[in-house]
Amino acid sequence: MSDRQDRQNPYQPHLARIVRILPQIPDHRLFQLRFEDDEVARNFKHRPGQFVELSVLGTGEAPISISSSPTRPGTLELCVRKVGRVTEALFRLGVDAVIGIRGPYGNGYPVEEMEGHNLLLVAGGLGMAPLRSLLWYAMDNRSKFKDIILMYGARVPGDMLFKYELLGLLDQPDIKCLLTVDRDDTGRWPAHIGVVPKLFDKVELDPKTTIAAVCGPPVMYKFVLQKLLERNFSKDHILMSLERKMKCGVGKCGHCAIGYKYTCLDGPIFTYWDVINLPEVV
Ligand SMILES: Cc1cc2nc3c(=O)[nH]c(=O)nc-3n(C[C@H](O)[C@H](O)[C@H](O)COP(=O)(O)OP(=O)(O)OC[C@H]3O[C@@H](n4cnc5c(N)ncnc54)[C@H](O)[C@@H]3O)c2cc1C
Ligand code: FES
Repeated sequence: MSDRQDRQNPYQPHLARIVRILPQIPDHRLFQLRFEDDEVARNFKHRPGQFVELSVLGTGEAPISISSSPTRPGTLELCVRKVGRVTEALFRLGVDAVIGIRGPYGNGYPVEEMEGHNLLLVAGGLGMAPLRSLLWYAMDNRSKFKDIILMYGARVPGDMLFKYELLGLLDQPDIKCLLTVDRDDTGRWPAHIGVVPKLFDKVELDPKTTIAAVCGPPVMYKFVLQKLLERNFSKDHILMSLERKMKCGVGKCGHCAIGYKYTCLDGPIFTYWDVINLPEVV
């Protein structure tokens, strides 16, 4: 965080300009942002798995995961699904519009502890948004990690986020990229068909040397966790990203509390060990 930001009111957002909008799938867009202030841009450092509070000026704020990797500075990328007040207002803006950004917030993935391990990234739907940051972080620091396996699923090919970017990984030797759709309504889908947990049949996993990062809808968590536990993953080698209603993002308002933990400060990344000790999470 910059000195400038330290001196400011913590709720005061930095201004960022939308420099590019990449439509992904219906109601999902990737927004590329650049901070208006060069010093803020230089000092903005995040780790994969962190989020920002995005504000559409005059409308309100929403927490959004950072989808870009810190290894690729310059622009900040946020993949947003249009669901309500703030995101609808954001979708009405075009390139060159200015929005507010506070953060980065949250703990993010413990990337230093993950180094030296195999990485298993498991995503469903919009869960790919935070995992994309981790994916490119690991690919850009390839020598620091052993095997990298990505499992990502969508309902149909037209629902897959970052589709062309990820299809480009299918033949790469330094990652095992397993993409799946529940149903191929195109007849041209080049990868797997079936739900994400089925992809576990396609790989050998060593639970002792592998850390799994999982992000997706609740139903996917349930079955993926089952697969990981069947394969004897220890609970602290399973990292989950939790979403809770947030307001302040900085541990002040209590909106995001799960038991005695604040998702905005202690999370959003939790080990499965943390999660089973929290009430009503999965
Ligand atoms: C750590 C974290 C990371 C996130 N990352 C992303 C991300 O990368 N991309 C992304 O798109 N989203 C992300 N989200 C989710 C996003 O913050 C929410 O969807 C946010 O609420 C959107 O704000 P909004 O004002 O557009 O929607 P809201 O107006 O808050 O609506 C959100 C949802 O709640 C429902 N809702 C709203 N009001 C009511 C009501 N009164 N009663 C019942 N239901 C209601 C709406 O129908 C909608 O489904 C993240 C959330 C967290 C906590
Ligand atoms: S969002 Fe306010 S305490 Fe977490």
